[in-house]
Amino acid sequence: LRPEREQLATRLGFLLVSAGCAIGLGNVWRFPFITGMYGGGAFVIVYLVFLLLLGIPVLVMEYSIGRAGRLNIADAMRKLEKPGSKWHIFGYLAILGGVVGLMFYTTVAGWSIAYMYYTLTGKFAGLGPEEIGASFGAFLGNSAETVFWMAIVVALGFGVCSRGLHKGVERISKSLMAGLFFILIVLVVRSVTLPGSMEGISFYLYPDFSQLSWETVNAAMGQAFFTLSIGIGGMAVFGSYIGREKRLAGESINVVALDTSVALLAGLVIIPAAFAFSIDAGSGPGLIFVTLPNIFNQIVGGQLWGALFFLFLSLAAMTTVIAIFENLMAFTIDEWGWTRKKAALLNGVGVFLLSLPCALSFGTLSRIEPLGPGTGILDLEDFIFTNNLLPIGAISFVLFCAYNFGWGWDKFTEEANAGEGIRFPRWIRPYIVYVLPLIILLLMVGGWMAAL
Ligand code: PHE
Ligand code: NA
Repeated sequence: LRPEREQLATRLGFLLVSAGCAIGLGNVWRFPFITGMYGGGAFVIVYLVFLLLLGIPVLVMEYSIGRAGRLNIADAMRKLEKPGSKWHIFGYLAILGGVVGLMFYTTVAGWSIAYMYYTLTGKFAGLGPEEIGASFGAFLGNSAETVFWMAIVVALGFGVCSRGLHKGVERISKSLMAGLFFILIVLVVRSVTLPGSMEGISFYLYPDFSQLSWETVNAAMGQAFFTLSIGIGGMAVFGSYIGREKRLAGESINVVALDTSVALLAGLVIIPAAFAFSIDAGSGPGLIFVTLPNIFNQIVGGQLWGALFFLFLSLAAMTTVIAIFENLMAFTIDEWGWTRKKAALLNGVGVFLLSLPCALSFGTLSRIEPLGPGTGILDLEDFIFTNNLLPIGAISFVLFCAYNFGWGWDKFTEEANAGEGIRFPRWIRPYIVYVLPLIILLLMVGGWMAAL
């Protein structure tokens, strides 16, 4: 085991790298289409409540485990658990869980890079909404392409990781956030002023609570976990880069605030525009790819804005991919003593092969335009990951931190509250011990019932 870790130079560096892992396709691709599928405003409210009630506490726990253990999630848990207990098995499962997430994330990240290229080269210029939808269907139908772009994502990601976290990930995250914010705000202005967008704005912002169902609340919990990257120990690794002079609740709130503002802005771009162009906001994972090119066609210099937008989205997706890769890398390096080069090569090949089923799965589905919900491998992998693995992982971290048969409440809160900043309140204990794991369990099971 190698307990030493490259320390991140600055506090801002931590925030950007950690937010870089959180902010990604979850905010810009997943949030708008899930919001569209599950009824708009009411879903958004439940999602925000879950970020507070479930997301922040679990994020604090992941950071605490990572900072106290100073290792990848599995070895950190092994270091912190009672001697002889087996909590670190959940750490192994968490790392495997990350691999499941990558199995579809790499494919969608590939779509984003492809769309950067196609927007730049003017493929969508002058096309109407129907043609743009058909063109997305045709793109998905071409397996050689979807695999090619996915392979680029894997190669770029492991290429960066093979050169070391500090040199790679930090450098990429730094200039990204400002650019993404800026371009989203430009697009919000264009989108909400499109003729016919008003209906979309009220769908998005006006909560109709009669829309709420088990499926909706389950989807909101999944999205809250997915967007914060919690449940697979992905954020724990960043805890191991935070100095002990900062309390972890404050750090968590900063990251959640950044992540949430990007998601809310992305929703305000996509949903009003979908209504304006008569695209079904509930049409599923293709939503941003069939909506955005229409917006770019309505902007002066739209080709360039569009390419820039997909560039930032691709970079945001890449920083997330790299963070999950790095988790896998750190594990195989710490655990099996692999060199960084060897880890990058072997993990890269493995992730590429495991990503193939998703990347290849659209060929036969290309007639369904735009890609609808419940259509195959992407949805299945997403459902397993987001609605099952992340909640189960979250419960395991809660039990580990809050109960004395795990790491234990006192040690956990001592770690979370070391330093300055917002305190993780100790009076919250009954909620964490008795209520939080039950809510997660209940929502997860409720989601299964509704799906059956
Ligand atoms: N949070 C990432 C995003 O929003 C996705 C992710 C989920 C990353 C789970 C790691 C673990 O894009
Ligand atoms: Na996110």
